[in-house]
Amino acid sequence: MTTTNSEQVVRECAFDIMNIVKKYKDDNAGLMTALQDPLKRIIAQPDLLSLGVKRQGNHIDNSKYLYYDGQLVITLDEFPKGKRIPPHDHGVWEALAVYKGSFEHTVYERKDDGTKEGYADLAVVDDRRLKPGDVSIVAQPAEIHTFVALEEGTYSVTVVGGHYAETRHYFKPEEKSYVTRKPKVVS
Ligand SMILES: [Fe+2]
Repeated sequence: MTTTNSEQVVRECAFDIMNIVKKYKDDNAGLMTALQDPLKRIIAQPDLLSLGVKRQGNHIDNSKYLYYDGQLVITLDEFPKGKRIPPHDHGVWEALAVYKGSFEHTVYERKDDGTKEGYADLAVVDDRRLKPGDVSIVAQPAEIHTFVALEEGTYSVTVVGGHYAETRHYFKPEEKSYVTRKPKVVS
């Protein structure tokens, strides 16, 4: 099997991301800044759509692993135009780098203390249109997001800093409520 240049770049970026995660494990702001470079190098590769191994996605049908080692997961995901991914959390940081198309993407911070079952008070901390080359990282204290693809053929490269929480929260910000779900596929 021959390794393409893009596969080599993805592999190098995965190692860079591992080192960044180790270096900034207690500093989410530093982590978010440092992750920009390897993510931008991955989405600069022109032939990502021909790489990867199919996986079962949580919200979508077309999702592929670009890199997986049991801890670090880098996926290439296609999002259907107009299908909103509802506001949700992850239990770990998640980075979304736009490869093709565009998203409307909103990030929230939770303002309540989480002690009242079913209640959540969310504040918008970032709300913007993401285009190819843009990177958004959701991490504590703002690790809740919602997004919708604005075009056909919208793809993101997603990186998760470990395993998703087994129980995830899905929010209705306008009602200040949430429900919990256990997705079939945890990673
Ligand atoms: Fe997410």
